[in-house]
Amino acid sequence: MSEEEKSEVFIEVRGLHQRFGENHVLKGVDVDFPRGKTTALLGGSGGGKSVLVKHFVGLLRPYKGTVVVDGEEITHMGERELDHVRQQVSMMFQGGALFDSMTVGENVAFPLRERGMRDEKEIAKRVADALEIVRLPGQSEKMPSDLSGGMRKRVALARAVVERPCCVLYDEPHAGLDPVTGDSIDHLIKHLQTDLGITNIVITHEMRSVFRIADHVVFMKEGRVYWEGSPQEMRESRDPELRNFVEGKSEESWGGSGLLAEEG
Ligand SMILES: Nc1ncnc2c1ncn2[C@@H]1O[C@H](COP(=O)(O)OP(=O)(O)OP(=O)(O)O)[C@@H](O)[C@H]1O
Ligand SMILES: [Mg+2]
Repeated sequence: MSEEEKSEVFIEVRGLHQRFGENHVLKGVDVDFPRGKTTALLGGSGGGKSVLVKHFVGLLRPYKGTVVVDGEEITHMGERELDHVRQQVSMMFQGGALFDSMTVGENVAFPLRERGMRDEKEIAKRVADALEIVRLPGQSEKMPSDLSGGMRKRVALARAVVERPCCVLYDEPHAGLDPVTGDSIDHLIKHLQTDLGITNIVITHEMRSVFRIADHVVFMKEGRVYWEGSPQEMRESRDPELRNFVEGKSEESWGGSGLLAEEG
């Protein structure tokens, strides 16, 4: 496919349903993720965000509906074809688990070896490049237990980019990080988009981060896309559901006084 023919959409989801027994988690999701942009995927806990993105790499198969990745319908692909998709689209899992018995370098090299790469020079080069990208150059001999939470997240990110994907899915990359470390992760995510042209899809609860990095926001509720738009449109929206989310409020009210009273 030539550059001009490439669609503006990188991942297209149509009528996606998923259920686990009686638990109907996705109830007809229709959404497009724009190529070369950063999309923030928001919504309450248990709303189906992680379940949704697992369909983008074939870790879950739809109960109904379709997922098209870079122009190819992946819904009925076999494992071999999916392998190719997983090279293009990589995932930084919720929790970003590293193997504690392996060095940083071995962790980052893991997807390459899984794929059958045996050229040790090439592996070392790819690992070094990936660690460079996440600003952890020369750390490959360290053990994960010697790293801070933020550094571990970076290693997980290095592992997600070592195969030079064109799309990265991040499942709560800020979870458990202090705001400053979270900010540095945001810089990396944005760098991947702007300097390497990667399509980013970021599941997060951090509104600060949404306003920093997102070009597009998709808000899920009860198994469907409830709202989508730009961060600016989100900020200006009067929709009560969105407002509560942006302002971090639950259904209950704290009342109008004291430290937690609304600003302004
Ligand atoms: N493999 C599975 N088997 C059975 N139920 C599952 C499975 N994966 C997810 N679920 C259920 O699907 C629902 C949605 O889960 P999901 O992890 O997608 O939520 P989420 O929006 O990512 O929430 P959070 O913000 O807490 O991560 C939950 O009720 C969960 O228990
Ligand atoms: Mg989740």
